[in-house]
Amino acid sequence: MKIAIVHGPNLRLLGQREPEVYGTDTLEDINSKLEKLAHELGVEITTFQSNHEGELLDHIERMAEEVQGFLINPGAYTHTSIALRDALVGVERPFVEVHLSNTTARERFRRHSYLAPVAAGMVYGFGIHSYLLGLQGLVAKLRR
Ligand code: DQA
Repeated sequence: MKIAIVHGPNLRLLGQREPEVYGTDTLEDINSKLEKLAHELGVEITTFQSNHEGELLDHIERMAEEVQGFLINPGAYTHTSIALRDALVGVERPFVEVHLSNTTARERFRRHSYLAPVAAGMVYGFGIHSYLLGLQGLVAKLRR
């Protein structure tokens, strides 16, 4: 089984970006912990980050050919992108939406997610653990 991990805009800045909100783990830390967990779960992962909406859509379309599901932190596109939602629905692969922070406890504009209603599940508010729990949940769901 293969899962595509997708990181949206500004997540390359993790480690230095608002550490009081997002913690001090870097994107490399997150990816290497995901690699370790994937190995334990017996699945393969690929990782990708982009600040560009169109690149994220192209990547999702491309990867859908070879993966069974997606784990995505859409960053700020969560709250703005109908195109990202349409891409994820269009490729017909289950996806889990994750956020480092508890988006419902922050600014009002972060409370709405275009992706949430079509996601297989969501994990938010647990920092790096949101990704790890999300991967576990997605794999369990795909194996069921
Ligand atoms: C985020 C939450 C979003 O609202 C924000 O725009 C991000 C990060 C998170 O992981 O908590 O870029 O997705």
